[in-house]
Amino acid sequence: MLDSPTVLVVDFGAQYAQLIARRVRECRVYSEIIPHDTPVAEIARRRPAGIVLSGGPKSVYSPGAPDVDPKMFDLGVPVLGICYGQQLMARTLGGEVARTGSAEFGRADLEVLSPGSVLFSDQPAEQSVWMSHNDAVVQAPEGFRLTASTQASPVAGFEAPRRGLYGVQFHPEVVHSPWGTEVLKNFLYQGCALIPSWTMTSIIESTTASISQVVGSDRVVCALSGGVDSSVAAALVHRAVGDQLTCVFVDHGLLRASEAEQVEDTFRRHLEIDLIHIKAADRFLEALRGVVDPETKRKRIGETFIRVFEETARADPEDARWLVQGTLYPDVIESGSRDAARIKSHHNVGGLPDDMAFTLVEPLRNLFKDEVRRVGVELGLPEEIVWRQPFPGPGLAVRIIGEVTAERLDILRTADAIVVDEINRAGLGRAVWQAFAVLPAIHSVGIQGDERTYGYPIVVRAVSSEDAMTADWVRLPFEVLERISSRVVGTVPEINRVVYDVTSKPPGTIEWE
Ligand code: XMP
Repeated sequence: MLDSPTVLVVDFGAQYAQLIARRVRECRVYSEIIPHDTPVAEIARRRPAGIVLSGGPKSVYSPGAPDVDPKMFDLGVPVLGICYGQQLMARTLGGEVARTGSAEFGRADLEVLSPGSVLFSDQPAEQSVWMSHNDAVVQAPEGFRLTASTQASPVAGFEAPRRGLYGVQFHPEVVHSPWGTEVLKNFLYQGCALIPSWTMTSIIESTTASISQVVGSDRVVCALSGGVDSSVAAALVHRAVGDQLTCVFVDHGLLRASEAEQVEDTFRRHLEIDLIHIKAADRFLEALRGVVDPETKRKRIGETFIRVFEETARADPEDARWLVQGTLYPDVIESGSRDAARIKSHHNVGGLPDDMAFTLVEPLRNLFKDEVRRVGVELGLPEEIVWRQPFPGPGLAVRIIGEVTAERLDILRTADAIVVDEINRAGLGRAVWQAFAVLPAIHSVGIQGDERTYGYPIVVRAVSSEDAMTADWVRLPFEVLERISSRVVGTVPEINRVVYDVTSKPPGTIEWE
């Protein structure tokens, strides 16, 4: 990020590299993740304020285990090694790592041995930490002082503050190490002499400055979906270039109840952003007619979206050159494109025709989701948008199992609004990752009044998750389920049955499709 001192987290394949970067940022210091094979010269060129070597799944002695270039430790940049990172540091600098025979997984009792230590300053002499390792450092390199140990890790912490080198065997980044954040803060504020200056305000300032510089006086277009990412991206770009931005909201008619009105209201009236609202529900329904297969649905929706978007963008007489995208940092890391530049110099955006070349503006490219939300709040976006649950691009079409019709969409929308409303009323809105209704287009027999009915079931799905990769079904109180059930069948005549999905992911997915 422009002008912010940066701590680089070297990823040795740890499941926790992202978490380390997030924790560093929570300490108000900007951090980025780099792959372990990044050449030291490249690291030096980036002039980091500190380096963290992450954990990793391998043993430092196993063939093909990722290594560290010894020159890393001579850059004059403070380095903190965590778990595998500590072991690499120890082995590279002449210490000893061995399989002690007593692996540690989970909670361990740590004894702080050196009260004058930098990492453990102002901390209790005995603390609980979280461990996950087979090997352990058994001898610190020469010139390092021992700072902490546990029963199974004789050298659970070491440091050579004059050389700016620190290591811990445990994981300070996880919540199960209650003093972990303090350990990181000590590394950052004392070890690296950083001050906590990376705030939402500074992100907004540096991002808007760089957008206006790059975009100049060109026109910019943004495809708004109503979700958090595209909304925050649009608001940020608007802050930078004002009226040069036009937002295009392709309303495919597959949104949840009152979502489209909310987008209009927020962007056009509240933020006064130039918004083109294309009401294209009929075209999408036409494209979906007779389609049952979920992949075909997605494909038809994608194609129609591009066609509608293209027509609008072409109709714009001033011909926008830039397209805003709400790409987030985890997408950047996962897609392997580690160029952290905010503004990508490339042209064609997935699926748009060749003669519609846009250059991408990706103002959220360096941010995690929770940071995007905080930027959104800071920019004045309403809570309903900032805290909106993830919602699939193809919308309710993936929540109707079977053909998508206008009638089924209405039924699902009404039932879904009840599910969400009851969960919010019970104060569980923020506790669930996603909660929604699914309409499998089958019928079953019921009885209402004295009549037999033959209606649709509604599936209620409510999951908790950290990142949507895994999820668990939420143990909703029976009273909440009961209210949902009786309101849904009482309100929507076509529904005669409500069921609750009690499947985690895996083996299920969050959406039904
Ligand atoms: P599944 O169903 O695979 O979903 O467990 C994981 C997460 O991704 C969301 N999802 C999508 N998001 N476009 C999106 O932007 C899509 O096409 C799409 N499909 C699924 C889903 O809601 C969940 O949060």
